[in-house]
Amino acid sequence: MSFEELKSVYAGKKVFLTGHTGFKGTWLVLLLKQLGAEVKGYSLPPLEHNALYHQVRAELYCESVIGDIRNREKLHREIEKFKPDFIFHMAAQALVIDSYINPVETFQTNVMGTVHVLDALRDLNHPCKGIMITTDKVYENQEREAPYKESEPLGGYDPYSNSKACCELAISSYRLSFFNPEQYDEHKISIASVRSGNVIGGGDWSENRILPDIARALIADEIILVRNPNSVRPWQHVLDPLHGYLMLGAKMEQEPVKYAQAYNFGPEPKERMNVQELVETAIESWGSGNYDVSADPNKLHEAGLLRLNIDKSKKELGWEPKYNAKEAVQETIAWYKASKAEEGIKAFTENQIAKFFND
Ligand SMILES: NC(=O)c1ccc[n+]([C@@H]2O[C@H](COP(=O)([O-])OP(=O)(O)OC[C@H]3O[C@@H](n4cnc5c(N)ncnc54)[C@H](O)[C@@H]3O)[C@@H](O)[C@H]2O)c1
Repeated sequence: MSFEELKSVYAGKKVFLTGHTGFKGTWLVLLLKQLGAEVKGYSLPPLEHNALYHQVRAELYCESVIGDIRNREKLHREIEKFKPDFIFHMAAQALVIDSYINPVETFQTNVMGTVHVLDALRDLNHPCKGIMITTDKVYENQEREAPYKESEPLGGYDPYSNSKACCELAISSYRLSFFNPEQYDEHKISIASVRSGNVIGGGDWSENRILPDIARALIADEIILVRNPNSVRPWQHVLDPLHGYLMLGAKMEQEPVKYAQAYNFGPEPKERMNVQELVETAIESWGSGNYDVSADPNKLHEAGLLRLNIDKSKKELGWEPKYNAKEAVQETIAWYKASKAEEGIKAFTENQIAKFFND
């Protein structure tokens, strides 16, 4: 969908966005602002002092509520007051490694956070489309070549992946029990879930994520340490899944019953970039850098091979990824390079959005 088509749907609409202070959330705040939406965010404060949220001054483009998604009453009150036309639910403990360290908190935040959003929708006396962000890791991973379709069994080895699979079950239960598409005219709530791949893009400063680790090493002129060189992941630039989420929301606005489903958003399955190739592409884009492959004796289990089937999103929504893996890495590294300068990163980020839609 073109920028203008999205604008015709979102301009003047009220969008409630959880996780607005995070990496993907901040990009979505900027995008929604450009589309003319009125955005209200609900999240914990940005974690890092150099968070993208601060770097692009995203607080100027939304009403920001700092709150915990586990605080059911506060979340409920904020949604009720705002009466959103759309909710994008992104707030989560989003890191696999952290989920091994704090499994209970991960399940509380991800599962009960999602249930709290769904439950607030139950009491909302206003038509609303809920786009619930889970992940590609919700599938029972068989480490197989064939990409996963939306209809395949859910699973999840580590607490993060498993908590997101639990979110999918909660979403499905609420959809059947309270927002059943067959009774749409009575409740006027449409709920979809979206499962995207490994998202990369400028402004992600999270610990223990491969691209931020690479960017930090390149900026500091240090050797990049690579632990799982052969792991293959569905790498995609942040704007590709966000475009997909917005397109799905626009389709739900037109036909709320038809699109109240789960959708995968990932790269073309023929893209098969492993971690080593990702690192080499990043170094090439940066113009210098070195890496070292080192085995980690305390390595926690992480999926080695994960690919998504995106046929449903292509066929039903008309969505397709704009950037291949190499372009996604190049755009991302260009952002980190630009971020070394003290000023201008907000304009650079906005230019990347404009370029994405103009390409
Ligand atoms: N980045 C990826 O590769 C990727 C891939 C697939 C899905 N996702 C999903 O997309 C969403 C956003 O991911 P991200 O990469 O931007 O993560 P992030 O860690 O950068 O942002 C997480 C956001 O959630 C908020 N949050 C965390 N715990 C909270 C709590 N208890 N109460 C309120 N807010 C809380 C944070 O404040 C932040 O705004 C998550 O749901 C994540 O699981 C991410």
